[in-house]
Amino acid sequence: MSGKPALPSERDRPAAGHQQLAGRVALVTGGASGIGRACALAFARAGAAVAIADIDDAAAERTVADIHAVGGRAVAQTCDVTSPDQTNNAVVRTAELFGRLDCAVNSAGVNEASPATADLTEHTWARLWSVNVKGMWLSMRAEITYMLTQGDGALVNLASTLSHVAMRNSAAYVATKHAVLGLTRAAALDYATSGIRINAVCPGPVETAMMHTALNNDPEAMEQLRNTAPTGRFTSPDEVASGVLWLCTPGASHVLGHGLVIDGGWTAM
Ligand SMILES: NC(=O)c1ccc[n+]([C@@H]2O[C@H](COP(=O)([O-])OP(=O)(O)OC[C@H]3O[C@@H](n4cnc5c(N)ncnc54)[C@H](O)[C@@H]3O)[C@@H](O)[C@H]2O)c1
Repeated sequence: MSGKPALPSERDRPAAGHQQLAGRVALVTGGASGIGRACALAFARAGAAVAIADIDDAAAERTVADIHAVGGRAVAQTCDVTSPDQTNNAVVRTAELFGRLDCAVNSAGVNEASPATADLTEHTWARLWSVNVKGMWLSMRAEITYMLTQGDGALVNLASTLSHVAMRNSAAYVATKHAVLGLTRAAALDYATSGIRINAVCPGPVETAMMHTALNNDPEAMEQLRNTAPTGRFTSPDEVASGVLWLCTPGASHVLGHGLVIDGGWTAM
């Protein structure tokens, strides 16, 4: 399913500083939508081949088509990150198709509109921990295992400003995002001498399908949240992708176990 590259247009050229990703191979879990999709497109513009691992096949294929349209190489793989077999297969297939795995972005995640802590259901608790934490760890396990055979690689996990601070009516999600940052730091230390760098990005609010779900599709709640932003706007998916790509470049060669906050000053308040 890899497209035959046409010459990229001026608009689609890689951003300065990310040319070092040309010829690299990136795997993006959750690459069918939102931040993951922006990362997949950004890697492709920077010249990397991209594998998208997601449960939403149709949306993943749309990301692939958009990458092919700008002359990039991409493939979609059905993958539920809560499944050890499917996360392993996603990595093995990526390496089979593109020859290696240099960068992995773990963006698959879920959130729900939630009540206060004591009113959370076990179902919500279990669902969020299963995808956001267990799914992240299973993805990392497969990616690291392969990268160890190569002797290098970079992982970037999607944490959040909610890995540092909290919000009302978000206990399960906030707990999972604190866990993602802890997992990132611990894993970074485990592989510090192996050539594998593991970091996270911590975005502030980004207007994606997840945000609409978490806010119950309530435009007023959306506006209230936007008004809390020091810049008066949400962080864009492309602004998050820019940080993710940087963490995968040689320019970040001594950055390990870091949670790069990209939030327009939201947590500086
Ligand atoms: N949107 C925000 O405000 C925000 C802020 C900080 C961090 N994040 C984090 O960024 C990541 C991406 O969020 P987003 O806002 O782009 O959400 P999104 O809903 O737009 O995208 C999430 C993607 O993950 C996929 N997914 C869900 N469950 C999966 C599973 N079990 N296996 C494989 N794929 C699965 C979905 O199909 C979707 O394509 C998440 O980890 C989220 O916690 C989001």
